[in-house]
Amino acid sequence: FPAENIRNFSIIAHVDHGKSTLADRLLELTGTISSNHSHQQVLDKLNVERERGITTCSMFYKYKDKDYLLNLIDTPGHVDFNYEVSRSLVACQGTILLVDASQGIQAQTVANFFLAFNEGLTIIPVINKIDLPAAEPDRVINQVESTFELDTSEISLISAKSGLGVDKILPSVIEKIPPPSGDVNKPLKAFLFDSWYDTYVGVICLMEIVDGKLQKGDKIVSAYSEKMYEVIDIGIMHPEQFTTGYLHAGQVGYVVCSMKVAAEAHVGDTFYHIKNPVDPLPGFEPAKSMVFAGVFPIDTNEFNRLDESITKLTLNDASVSIQRETSMALGQGWRIGFLGTLHMDVFKQRLEEEHDANVIITQPTVPYKIVYRDGTAKLIRNPTEFPEPMELQNKLSELQEPMILATIILPEEYMGSIIDLCGSRRGEQIEYNYMDESRVIMKYSIPLAEIVTDFHDELKSRSSGYASFDYEDMGYQISDIVKMNVLINKKPVDALATILHRSQVANVGREWAKKLSEVIPKQLYEVIIQTTIGGKVIARETIPAMRKNVTAKCYGGDVTRNIELPQKAFYDFLSKG
Ligand code: GTP
Repeated sequence: FPAENIRNFSIIAHVDHGKSTLADRLLELTGTISSNHSHQQVLDKLNVERERGITTCSMFYKYKDKDYLLNLIDTPGHVDFNYEVSRSLVACQGTILLVDASQGIQAQTVANFFLAFNEGLTIIPVINKIDLPAAEPDRVINQVESTFELDTSEISLISAKSGLGVDKILPSVIEKIPPPSGDVNKPLKAFLFDSWYDTYVGVICLMEIVDGKLQKGDKIVSAYSEKMYEVIDIGIMHPEQFTTGYLHAGQVGYVVCSMKVAAEAHVGDTFYHIKNPVDPLPGFEPAKSMVFAGVFPIDTNEFNRLDESITKLTLNDASVSIQRETSMALGQGWRIGFLGTLHMDVFKQRLEEEHDANVIITQPTVPYKIVYRDGTAKLIRNPTEFPEPMELQNKLSELQEPMILATIILPEEYMGSIIDLCGSRRGEQIEYNYMDESRVIMKYSIPLAEIVTDFHDELKSRSSGYASFDYEDMGYQISDIVKMNVLINKKPVDALATILHRSQVANVGREWAKKLSEVIPKQLYEVIIQTTIGGKVIARETIPAMRKNVTAKCYGGDVTRNIELPQKAFYDFLSKG
């Protein structure tokens, strides 16, 4: 296929707007899969293996007597994966911006639009679900015009479900999206935009060949790690791996090379032929964990088995970072870093469902930054690493926390309630605009720490499910953060230490003490729970002894006796959120 007969494109959409359904229709239309349901299962199987989204796939299509190779490139469908989405978009020259005719533009539509716009892609807006009784295509067309300033004069109105209008999509992909501009005669430049782990063959990478030619047996080098690999198998996804033995400039396909673990496949990395280095594509960032949590087995005898399970799961997921952690209260465990909270939930779910694990996951924390007067800085990924105020005296320059830029789209009537929510989460409004007469788009800067717990759930419940939310990284900002300790009978419980903004200490301190007093069962002696900051007590609760007179006799009122906080109490406390 000469480059002018190739189109590389993706579909971007808010969750549930119909991306997978449209992709299925396009694969059927091109005969890549047949429309009976056994093939649907093929896709599902790939889905299960890959965990996110539809799969990247090549299609053959005849248009005006010419044969085209159309490569549909998958983009992950969630806010935690914005960097991955942006890299997938680099491998395309254009994208279909799919919007649900009944829901209109949502936060992820906006975020994805700007990712595509910033990559300079051709954007084809398409309105889906026009078969729904609640569809308001005209209103959504207006939103697309006013929000994105896109030309809607030839906009496609489709139903991906019934297939109505879907036949117009591929012709417009061919007419509107430019072919890839690579040069097959230049040295190899291959761009890695996705990867997964296959139990049989190991790491499978998806790459776009930007320039040159890559074939089986070639030795290639990662521009990021400078590691060398040999290509063992190469071909296109159709819809599963189909060996071709080579890929040319402009083509997109899979590459199996001697890569042992998924962590070596860095999304956004560039590969070149050994002895023939090229400039890597710009925009590469190593995977960056933004949410950390301690994970501990409920039954400490399970440690080794769980260690194996966690290693297996990380084999499959390059974006998880992992370290051993020992807690006095919870024993041996791991500190795991995730891209975001959804990522964390998925990991936890897989651990529980696929590996039958019973684990305690500590309160998630974000990476805080301590900047010292001598100019050095330290990232704190675990509250136990946070120095006590005394240790910082005369050394501290400033404390910083990571911020995000949130985009929230909602019907006007919920504005008050959502503004309150953002305010209570230390958010600052940056701007708001009307998308049409009743829908508002608001931008907030909010500390990441404030959205990692229940922000999304709160947003949904306060807006009856109508508000949508997306965010991007905004770097670090000075912040008055402190470490709060929890003391049980005067002894700090390491796994319950947490980092907070000073303004929240009084509330959270009281709340935690109270909640702990509810989950810790009565003991034979009195149990005192305290929350403290730098040695100062914020709140105190007392659980009286089971039977006072007996205890007094046995223990002589020794209130400093250590109690082993039962694992169950931890579990109850932490899972209550
Ligand atoms: P994620 O995978 O969660 O990102 O969702 P998605 O965008 O891939 O959406 P998906 O294709 O899974 O569709 C979501 C729901 O909308 C499914 O129940 C589809 O059957 C339904 N749906 C998709 N297209 C249409 C359409 O044209 N009309 C109607 N009525 N329903 C549709």
